[in-house]
Amino acid sequence: MLQLRYGKIKNLQENVKIAPAEGDLGVLIPGMGAVTTTFIAGVEAVKRGLAQPIGSVTQLATIRLGKRTEGRSPKIKDFVPLADLKDLTFGTWDIYDDNCWEAAENAGVLEKSLLEQLREPLSSIQPMKAVFDPDFVRRINGPNVKQKGSKMDRAEMLMDDIRNFREASGVSRLVMIWCGSTEVFHKPAAVHQTLKDFECGLMKNDPEISPSQIYAFAALKSGVPYANGAPHLTTDAPALMELAHERQVPICGKDFKTGQTFMKTLIAPGLKSRMLGVSGWFSTNILGNRDGEVLDDPGSFKSKEETKLSVLEHILQPDLYPELYGNIYHKVRINYYPPRGDAKEGWDNIDIFGWLGYPMQIKIDFLCRDSILAAPLVLDLVLFLDLAQRAGMRGVQEWLSFYFKAPMTAPGLYPEHDIFIQLMKLKNTLRWMRGEDLITHLGLEYYD
Ligand SMILES: NC(=O)c1ccc[n+]([C@@H]2O[C@H](COP(=O)([O-])OP(=O)(O)OC[C@H]3O[C@@H](n4cnc5c(N)ncnc54)[C@H](O)[C@@H]3O)[C@@H](O)[C@H]2O)c1
Repeated sequence: MLQLRYGKIKNLQENVKIAPAEGDLGVLIPGMGAVTTTFIAGVEAVKRGLAQPIGSVTQLATIRLGKRTEGRSPKIKDFVPLADLKDLTFGTWDIYDDNCWEAAENAGVLEKSLLEQLREPLSSIQPMKAVFDPDFVRRINGPNVKQKGSKMDRAEMLMDDIRNFREASGVSRLVMIWCGSTEVFHKPAAVHQTLKDFECGLMKNDPEISPSQIYAFAALKSGVPYANGAPHLTTDAPALMELAHERQVPICGKDFKTGQTFMKTLIAPGLKSRMLGVSGWFSTNILGNRDGEVLDDPGSFKSKEETKLSVLEHILQPDLYPELYGNIYHKVRINYYPPRGDAKEGWDNIDIFGWLGYPMQIKIDFLCRDSILAAPLVLDLVLFLDLAQRAGMRGVQEWLSFYFKAPMTAPGLYPEHDIFIQLMKLKNTLRWMRGEDLITHLGLEYYD
């Protein structure tokens, strides 16, 4: 498909023209809980010189260009034209009507002393009324919701919100990223097969269409790129992919790769690279934020479990290495435990085996902070999706797999989960966009 769209690899870069990042970028976010408030507060803090954007590849990482001997390693943000943090403007939706400062305080992630300094920019962000359905998110309920009309009427109300936000804020471009609660597990149904079926389903209130899909539909219809930070089904359905192609809009997802799964994608490729076997991997964690409360519901947990479980199988490839990974017992548990709030603790017990089958064990105890890990991912995704849009890249952006637990791919392709391959793909895509040589790490020329 890529070959058809862009011609032969050699000539690819000639086809990529990137429009400049002129004007402001509006960041639209359904769900203003722990992740969103930590992200927005973080951007405002960095803008004011109060903190550093640690964890953000777009802000801190460099990219090597050309040969090792050339000494060219600019920062990514100086290499590709990304929106500047000072040009970001935020719009959100939530079922609760707390403003962003109040929501940040409730989330309890950031210290009061920092939040006090950000009171003014955060208090001015008031969430718009949400499209919500308690059949899809069961443990919470709030007053700030659009009550009337069919699912199509609600999609149109969201499109009005997008239009009004664009006009009121004067932004020149928009992206949308879902940071709302995880919805219950659904598989693609008949209504998700074509755009026509989907639009019909919106009008008839088809129960298989989730709120997140209504937001995604509204975004794509409005020409706004869409990223899914949660594990549920949204744009990974033929109907919404069709819409993304029709409107020439990039999409990506799903489920931010933070915490325990991030650790898994660091360690599993390492074990596999040395051909060490794995007989069991037990992951459990405790967390006490609202996300943990929603995930306490079996339907939402099922969405999460699916994305968390798929990672190991794709990295370890048991069908290629049956003697090493053909018999793994993989278990994932999430336990809602309020005293910890957002400060999650994740334990992994990994049973491995080495030379002649001798068993060994690895134990991980990761005392992490979920939203602190997720916020820089939101920033990078927003900036890269905007870049993709300006570079004319439409549909699934597989090069952004680096950020996700369950990366979306073209139909029929298995997702690449190895974080080091994902990073190489991301950087090579940036090199390709700028007409630089792709880096293969072959390096034979140094020994000619
Ligand atoms: N923090 C992480 O490390 C991490 C990692 C991977 C995925 N995620 C996902 O990111 C999402 C956000 O996580 P969080 O910790 O901020 O959760 P949170 O519960 O603090 O915030 C989610 C917010 O979404 C709102 N919401 C629910 N349904 C909505 C709707 N239809 N429209 C608008 N708002 C809606 C809720 O009221 C809540 O305020 C979750 O789906 C979570 O699973 C988080």
